[in-house]
Amino acid sequence: MPAPPAGASLAPMGLLLVAGGTGTAGRAVVREATARGWDVRSLSRRLPAPEDAAGGVEYVIGDAATGAGLAAALEGVEVFVDVLEGLRGRARRDYALAGRRLLDAARGSGTDRAVSLSIVAADRFPIGFYRAKLAKERVYEEHPLPTTVLRCAQFHDLVAEVFRAGARLGVIPCLRGARLQPIDVRDVAKVLLDAAAEPAGGHLALTACGPEIRAMAELAEAWKHAEGSTARIVEIPVPGRSGRVLAEGGNLVPEAARGTITFEQWLAERHQPVPGA
Ligand SMILES: NC(=O)c1ccc[n+]([C@@H]2O[C@H](COP(=O)([O-])OP(=O)(O)OC[C@H]3O[C@@H](n4cnc5c(N)ncnc54)[C@H](OP(=O)(O)O)[C@@H]3O)[C@@H](O)[C@H]2O)c1
Repeated sequence: MPAPPAGASLAPMGLLLVAGGTGTAGRAVVREATARGWDVRSLSRRLPAPEDAAGGVEYVIGDAATGAGLAAALEGVEVFVDVLEGLRGRARRDYALAGRRLLDAARGSGTDRAVSLSIVAADRFPIGFYRAKLAKERVYEEHPLPTTVLRCAQFHDLVAEVFRAGARLGVIPCLRGARLQPIDVRDVAKVLLDAAAEPAGGHLALTACGPEIRAMAELAEAWKHAEGSTARIVEIPVPGRSGRVLAEGGNLVPEAARGTITFEQWLAERHQPVPGA
């Protein structure tokens, strides 16, 4: 009999909660977890539109930042995967707190272990967004529940969205000297769920980046080509320590190239001709 894929099991799987299961990473985790045989529950502040809801998944409402609905969301859960986001303002301020509330509620409900998604080089960029990621990593590291934190590189979706937003105004911003190692969210989901299937232990820190290291400007060229965009690529200087980190490639982790899908492959998938159209 062929060996099951990494993280898969022939035994029946338990109930897995995806905190943030309606987001970009969350939707990929929900799909992959369902395919691997987990019973899946998703937590978010709003329910997905019916056309975006995955079959067989239980969608519940709660707010990890306030704790509302968490006890019910975690009832019967074996393991949870935290793919929440907190981009700015209050959501960013409460980002680490949301992780703590989830962990505390999980402990109270008999949940075995937790996996959280963070960002590569969370400790290197002296900006608020990264500080919030680092603060949340610490919460997971220090909590008595067995935990794994996965740092991952920028998603292909995010890179494309940055280019698209700029192109609408006629210019595509690229950070001067920046190289990226973008990753497909489906690859991220696989690594998260491999970790979720591990038996409970202490704390584990992992990293996952995409298969290629590319200059941001090269990625922008690829995006322009795929989209037929005529927008101009404009290099933006990055001052101070952040600029130095980028120039030194401090955001890159070649030995953690666990992603399998390149940016160009991801773009090509989006531009497949629709049969019959
Ligand atoms: N984007 C990237 O390139 C990238 C790269 C590396 C790491 N990451 C990390 O990946 C994680 C997920 O990013 P993403 O882009 O998938 O985020 P996203 O698309 O914004 O999704 C966030 C999810 O969390 C839910 N959520 C947010 N605040 C919540 C709260 N207080 N209580 C309950 N649910 C809440 C959202 O639903 P509602 O709004 O309905 O609540 C949504 O389901 C983030 O931690 C990010 O740092 C992202």
